[in-house]
Amino acid sequence: MSEDLKVEGGTREERYRSLLPQIEGLLAGETDLTANMANFCAALKHGLGFFWVGFYLVKGDELVLGPFQGPVACTRIRRGRGVCGRCWETGRTVVVEDVTRFPGHIACSALSRSEIVVPLKDAEGRVTAVLDVDHDTPGAFGPADERWLTELLAPLEGGGAR
Ligand code: SME
Repeated sequence: MSEDLKVEGGTREERYRSLLPQIEGLLAGETDLTANMANFCAALKHGLGFFWVGFYLVKGDELVLGPFQGPVACTRIRRGRGVCGRCWETGRTVVVEDVTRFPGHIACSALSRSEIVVPLKDAEGRVTAVLDVDHDTPGAFGPADERWLTELLAPLEGGGAR
């Protein structure tokens, strides 16, 4: 794996397509989950130009901040709280077009305007972590982002990399 990812230019769709094999290659060479989550965040943040990319890990009855790229963020989120807690509680991806209209949204940064949160599950289907991606413009995420992010996360699912 070279030091620099090559995902410059093109549409977001093209960037995702270009990033997929690079992320798969990056994660295939390492079994440590923290290391893989850290590189995943860096690749996605810098490859796609998002405002904030990070993981929150299920620890007891809270989500706790894990590897991320972007401005400092809140460290603990209770189940059902905010967008991340909703994703954990429902086990489903949550897309928020306008964070000011999501009741209970947790504003780690006033610059974040839209958000997508995707769950990671173990082999039994329990949510073990969530991936949170924030954008500084409203309405930045849709079904295509959900599909691509779910595919990009596949190597980290099922406890495959610990
Ligand atoms: N906005 C999230 C909190 C995490 S930050 O965006 C990094 C939420 O409402 O759960």
